[in-house]
Amino acid sequence: MSRVVDLRSDTVTQPTEAMREAMATAVVGDDGYGEDPTVAALEARFAELTGKEAALFVPSGVMGNQIALRVLCAPGDVVLCGAHQHVVGFEMGAAARNTGVQFWAVGDDAGVFDLEEVAEALAAESDHQVAVRALAVENTHMYAGGVPWPPHELAGLAALAGDRPLHLDGARLFNAAVATGESPAALCAPATTVMACLSKGLCAPVGSLLAGPAPLMERARVERKRLGGALRQAGFLAAAGLVALDTMVERLAEDHARARRLAEAFAEALPEADYDPATCRTNIVSFDHPEARRIVEELAGAGVLGGTVGPRRARFVTHHDVDDDDLERAVAAVARLRV
Ligand SMILES: Cc1ncc(COP(=O)(O)O)c(C=O)c1O
Repeated sequence: MSRVVDLRSDTVTQPTEAMREAMATAVVGDDGYGEDPTVAALEARFAELTGKEAALFVPSGVMGNQIALRVLCAPGDVVLCGAHQHVVGFEMGAAARNTGVQFWAVGDDAGVFDLEEVAEALAAESDHQVAVRALAVENTHMYAGGVPWPPHELAGLAALAGDRPLHLDGARLFNAAVATGESPAALCAPATTVMACLSKGLCAPVGSLLAGPAPLMERARVERKRLGGALRQAGFLAAAGLVALDTMVERLAEDHARARRLAEAFAEALPEADYDPATCRTNIVSFDHPEARRIVEELAGAGVLGGTVGPRRARFVTHHDVDDDDLERAVAAVARLRV
């Protein structure tokens, strides 16, 4: 039996040989005392890449998002964001529990917001409603199918936001950069804070980064401690993160090409889904189908693993550990679907 093609998520990727080597030889110190040179190097590199003053290494993307909300908002504040964003639906209510914010969720089926809807929400203060304190966007937008925000639309959103801070959940920021041809710094320019994950398509085993203005990142350091996320000899993890940033970004284009091929296969096999494969611009194939769960189950039976992110929404994610042969096996299994 051929090996399983695991398209559940890009988080299943294994660290590369270069990462294992870098981890084994990393120079480390106690990061609780700010004495880990490898963590410091990773934070400086990410700050430079995103064009922000300072950065902070955090154990996970969720923690990065949560810390951002804690430094940008107070309990009771309203955060405007997309209805299907990770911070809304996939963090187990953490924003309510940790910061006590409430969300004003606008439509984001296509990944981006309707700026008119945003403008209305921002004006709600004059209709006796609570003022929007901050905004949060996701780039790429996972649920929508890894959709990258067109840079001018993000700039338009930031212009509407005015003085309100904008947090960018860039769990897959580098996929967005590769897909749009923009630099990470250009994509992050409209944002006050940005979080990006090292442990997804970039293949590092653990870790995310949060970047923003230096005074905010000082406060973020305190919030990380409060959440139990201050690590000690974290340089072992940061060493893999540096390899990820230095060597794993360009190759994301391969994942994007494979995802498009898979998207075309789904569109052909399931015309009733009305899925436009051209919307697949990065590494996530995601579409609505009344039998989404059965599709995932049937493919699993054929050795192709995926998942659902809603009762009628299927998701398949390409990554470093899925090669052309694997992809062709997945395409063949999709063609055989009998849903
Ligand atoms: C868009 C987005 N944001 C945040 C996260 C959270 O990252 P982590 O799993 O490292 O906590 C994910 C994880 O899949 C994600 O897809």
